[in-house]
Amino acid sequence: MPAVGGVGPGTGKAYPGNLTPYVTVTCIVAAMGGLIFGYDIGISGGVTTMTPFLKKFFRSVWEKKEADKSKNQYCQYDSQTLTMFTSSLYLAALLSSIVASTVTRRLGRKLSMLFGGLLFFAGALINGFAKAVWMLIVGRLLLGFGIGFANQSVPLYLSEMAPYRFRGALNIGFQLSITIGILIANVLNYFFAKIKGGWGWRLSLGGAMVPALIITIGSLVLPDTPNSMIERGQTEEAKAKLKRIRGVDDVEEEFRDLVAASETSKLIEHPWRNLLQRKYRPHLTMAILIPFFQQLTGINVIMFYAPVLFSTIGFKDDSALMSAVITGVVNVGATVVSIYGVDKWGRRFLFLEGGVQMLICQAVVAACIGAKFGINGNPGDLPKWYAVVVVLFICIYVAGFAWSWGPLGWLVPSEIFPLEIRSAAQSINVSVNMLFTFAVAQVFLTMLCHLKFGLFLFFAFFVLIMSVFVYYFLPETKGIPIEEMGQVWKTHWYWSRFVEDVDYPNGGMEMGKGGQGVKDV
Ligand code: BGC
Repeated sequence: MPAVGGVGPGTGKAYPGNLTPYVTVTCIVAAMGGLIFGYDIGISGGVTTMTPFLKKFFRSVWEKKEADKSKNQYCQYDSQTLTMFTSSLYLAALLSSIVASTVTRRLGRKLSMLFGGLLFFAGALINGFAKAVWMLIVGRLLLGFGIGFANQSVPLYLSEMAPYRFRGALNIGFQLSITIGILIANVLNYFFAKIKGGWGWRLSLGGAMVPALIITIGSLVLPDTPNSMIERGQTEEAKAKLKRIRGVDDVEEEFRDLVAASETSKLIEHPWRNLLQRKYRPHLTMAILIPFFQQLTGINVIMFYAPVLFSTIGFKDDSALMSAVITGVVNVGATVVSIYGVDKWGRRFLFLEGGVQMLICQAVVAACIGAKFGINGNPGDLPKWYAVVVVLFICIYVAGFAWSWGPLGWLVPSEIFPLEIRSAAQSINVSVNMLFTFAVAQVFLTMLCHLKFGLFLFFAFFVLIMSVFVYYFLPETKGIPIEEMGQVWKTHWYWSRFVEDVDYPNGGMEMGKGGQGVKDV
């Protein structure tokens, strides 16, 4: 059996530094950038089950839903216009993350966050006051632009700020905010849907202005990362900042490595074209496959459409929204488990355990829905225990995702790219993520209509593939300083063929046996 996990724990490098209150608070504020993304994920699915909203903007869907009451449940929400409402945002996010790459690199991570907040605010404002479908779509495009900027910059910011031993935990603050955003949105939908007069959806959509303000203000008060300051020529300030962040005076070694990484980075004129070089093959592969796999877990079927899905399988509108709240709570709780475990148990363990858990649950849910709804989608009366079992397994599935692919889908890419390609590669990560979020959102209702319960088996198949991929191809990155990451590829049974020692003058070149050697810079 090859050494599939890559190097052992640690690199032999141990930069001094603590988890200072300063860095903790900074990371918490920055991580709140995930709120806008989460709020939107949670709000859109719920809003599309609100009858007044459907009647106003998507009347044909509402009429079909009314007419279909006792017929094929699998197809009652199948409408391209309705899915376009949800998914248009992701196309916008895809485009803006590419622009954000340049802003993040040239002007700093903070400015990208600021743009993210402002664009999202504008989108929320337009949506809250929408009078016609075009206003909804324009609003959603702006929200998407905002998310592209935020998701491009926040994970990088966190990984650069964090002391390497706590990088996993601090970075997952981003995912925690996403899940909190989703939960808040689900709870608000539940209450706003009850507002008499049927204008509650305006509050749901307009409410996005609050998380937008949080990231906007946050970005103004946050410091820049030392990596980014060095990259932009502010070397002395960067050193002082590093001392402040780490809470120690002895930052020489880390500082030297950051400067060296920046020198290498300056030699690169075209970060995009550069990504195609052979030595970046492992990075490029991960930048594409990790987000692709994250979306192919099928998680957003639950996140966007939990209310739709639950009402499809027989819950009343109100209890469907309530069940979405329950999965939301599980999502937050399991993310906290990940924060606790990621720097202890490592990334690979979480990926693999989460994969097995999701696979089992998807098979059970497919079997349950198949058994009751069969092929024609007409279940007759559903007993209560049945709904409870389905919700239970969906919750276990969500937990599996929330401590594996959810947070790690953002953490791992943000920590494996060398500085010279970091912004560009992160944009690829965000774009691919958004592309497949879009694809899943756009085709899910049609797939449910055609594949029926087999839809869950479709995603289960991908979960199997991605777990095998992680087992063989993803090296462990726990406890390795970010500018030292080159070594994980060099000692990997497969990726080592793509990278030469000279490729990583700043990446743990002279590794001793077992990954414990110390590099001399
Ligand atoms: C994913 C989202 C997903 C969310 C669920 C994130 O990591 O990128 O697509 O909706 O997790 O918590």
